[in-house]
Amino acid sequence: MCGIFGYIGKNTHAEKLVFEGLKSLEYRGYDSWGIAALDGSGQIKITKNIGKIGNANLDFVKKSNMALGHTRWATHGGVTVKNAHPHFDCNHHLALIHNGIIENYASLKSELIKKGHHFISETDTEVAVHLVEEYYKKQSFEQAVFSAFKRFEGLNAIIVMDHKTAVFAACKNGSPLIIGRGDGENFLASDAYAILPYTRRVYFMEDDELVLMDSKKIKVISLKDKSLKKVNFQKVDWSIKNEDKGDLPHYMLKEILDQKFMLDYVVSHQDESIKKFSQLISQSFGTYLVGCGTAAYACLAGTYIFSKVAKIHVNFSVASEFGYLVDYLTPKSLVIGLSQSGETIDLLDALKKAKAKKAKIGSLVNVLGSTLYRFSDHKLLLNAGVERAVVSTKAFTAKLAHLLLIAYYLSGNYQEGKEILKNTISVINNLLNDKQLLKIKDLSRRLSHQEHIYIIGRGASYPIALETALKIKEASYIHAEGFAGGELKHGVIALVDKGTPCLAILPNDETYFDTLSGVMEMKARGGYMIGIGFKNHEVFDEFIETGDCQLASIIPNVVIGQLLGYYLAVEKGLDPDKPRNLAKSVTVK
Ligand code: F6R
Repeated sequence: MCGIFGYIGKNTHAEKLVFEGLKSLEYRGYDSWGIAALDGSGQIKITKNIGKIGNANLDFVKKSNMALGHTRWATHGGVTVKNAHPHFDCNHHLALIHNGIIENYASLKSELIKKGHHFISETDTEVAVHLVEEYYKKQSFEQAVFSAFKRFEGLNAIIVMDHKTAVFAACKNGSPLIIGRGDGENFLASDAYAILPYTRRVYFMEDDELVLMDSKKIKVISLKDKSLKKVNFQKVDWSIKNEDKGDLPHYMLKEILDQKFMLDYVVSHQDESIKKFSQLISQSFGTYLVGCGTAAYACLAGTYIFSKVAKIHVNFSVASEFGYLVDYLTPKSLVIGLSQSGETIDLLDALKKAKAKKAKIGSLVNVLGSTLYRFSDHKLLLNAGVERAVVSTKAFTAKLAHLLLIAYYLSGNYQEGKEILKNTISVINNLLNDKQLLKIKDLSRRLSHQEHIYIIGRGASYPIALETALKIKEASYIHAEGFAGGELKHGVIALVDKGTPCLAILPNDETYFDTLSGVMEMKARGGYMIGIGFKNHEVFDEFIETGDCQLASIIPNVVIGQLLGYYLAVEKGLDPDKPRNLAKSVTVK
């Protein structure tokens, strides 16, 4: 969600540097953006825009050594220039950017209006800058930001620029903020990777911290008791791989195609992490897999994988619901969060509640240094590579591959699991050839005018049906629903009419004949039946053959769902990398 980037230092075009910083945060999802820069005469100048950053003109300021920028994903107030950040106080002496939601903004706003403050936007954020302004009348800048932030309810991160002291103050409680220490220059951002091109010395701010920063000094104080904190900057050696999409038209396609490399990496490099995680699970009493959206479907798939392969029961919950289920956790429980970004607030919140019950926290996470990564007692880095498309693809299959290998390790048949995954790589290689891609593109063209698509699967293919539906919904805005095949007769079949496109996932396993019966029943009601699986059957109007890699067949089968989502979006003239209303990192509730 919202991206934050601040710079202060020797560069005389801070606004350009911040602009580049914002570009690297674009993937988080946004609908408007803005930059504030302190110019040579001590005035704060602001530019704000709706839509994509592109190659915007930055002549709103001539020179600047201090600037902050923001990509906004609208929560309070529509997508307008007025609502875009940064926001000014009444006198344009302060500029502020914000990530999060100030839950008590309405009461603060009426208090400030009574005191004569003038508001121009509909945002909760503007309240923050006026509240700092109000306190700044009688207090130092540091104290004013402290006093204001203490009054916000909810999870928030802010950076405030002060024209008088030429200092940044930033606070956080919930949303991520990272400080980068350079040589005669300092940085603030909501993502460490945005800072790494400039410095590798970083500090991940803790909740309830306030930092004051100029080009040389960085002072961190506790928002709890105002004590000065000793800050240890860590030198990170993470590689910044060139994750460019090259000649491909979209990141989503690149990331779908990347899955063969990702799987190869998992099979050949993750033995140690898989072994450690397996031991952790076997020592725990009650294991819970939690995640949101696509990650939740990986968790659900995990329950089938662990039951089938390792013969152990693991529990599943959507993270946003898990917070209401923590009462039975004990110090022996293990709660594993699955996440691409490691910043999903619903997941982090649930895990905090689990930690309060003294449960152990594990994570399968893709972003090194993310909040989840740092919060977990035990972490397994997925190493799927950067995901830039908002729609998650390779992080999902990376989670499936790791869950499969962990389950095989627990069953004592780790080598067998690796062989199955190696076979999966060759199945995927076959699948991702030009002829097959053209076939799916052609099917997508014919389905692109449809209003509804239904998908059924059973067993481990049930979460794959759900994930296929999610890919189609997110990328193409076509209404798609995934169902457990057995649920058809309990209501769902009422939706099937003449010509309704229905997809069925049929791997070579115990679910085959039961799912096939469902297909027959849908066909009998006029459904246009599309099969995905290891062998065709006459009942199908169309069939996409994926191959047989035992339980790991869920991986190639979901790749077809991802491709359908992608090509349906392209056929409809949509940008599959940036679907409307969605953000890559969901950092607000
Ligand atoms: C779907 C998608 C979302 C995320 C969900 C969790 O394509 O991207 O459903 O999977 O928001 O995000 P992470 O995995 O970052 O915790």
